Amino acid sequence: MTDTAPTWHAPWRATVLTLFPEIFPGPLGLSLAGRALAGGLWALEAQDIRDSATDRHRSVDDTPAGGGPGMVLRADVLAAAIDAAATAPEVPRLLMSPRGRPLTQARVKELAAGSGALIVCGRFEGVDQRVIEARNLEEVSIGDYVLAGGEIAALALIDACVRLLPGVMGKMESGTEESFSAGLLEYPQYTRPQSFEGRPIPEILTSGDHAKVAAWRRAEAEALTRARRPDLWKRRPSPDATKNTTKG
Ligand code: ADE
Repeated sequence: MTDTAPTWHAPWRATVLTLFPEIFPGPLGLSLAGRALAGGLWALEAQDIRDSATDRHRSVDDTPAGGGPGMVLRADVLAAAIDAAATAPEVPRLLMSPRGRPLTQARVKELAAGSGALIVCGRFEGVDQRVIEARNLEEVSIGDYVLAGGEIAALALIDACVRLLPGVMGKMESGTEESFSAGLLEYPQYTRPQSFEGRPIPEILTSGDHAKVAAWRRAEAEALTRARRPDLWKRRPSPDATKNTTKG
């Protein structure tokens, strides 16, 4: 080998622990993510948690200690499934859960920059707290609503990571100006026809004046963010730290 020989990196790998492995790859087998998966730019493994059950009935859940509705995923079964997955110790271990920290584009970027993630999909009322602690699971939520299980949340998280991997998005699709990359929501887009049901494309966008177009887009993005996401607006990074920061 010479110094200039390219180094081979194992592709970014999502290892998913679930009671419904047949859900995967699902939509991730299509379009951008699907082409990249087929091309070996990332890898996906969905493992059935039930394979780690030890009793005759292959049970994975039990009634909550202290009483209450629903069933709880057993600590011993889930721990065995995590250990059997044998991911490297530095690979983040995530548990999709509505009580997790909200997923952000910043966390997605960190995950995509690593070697992959082990993703546990919760079901039932929850997961025994002891396995969350003993296997150092990072609880992640994709929004303030409750899904029937973590699988759809895991698909969303993987999709967000995979599109950032090198070679997955073409230049055309790459999102340097997309929502959240500048802490703002995306400005409105238009394409032909020039007039749709009596609504013309805003004149400035067809003026050919690139500076005016950029200023219009910035103003639209700011107005949308203020109106829809005051939380993002408050936390937005200053476009120029030396400029007046008192407005807004
Ligand atoms: N499982 C159920 N609801 C969820 C949510 N909102 N985010 C992540 N995982 C979940």
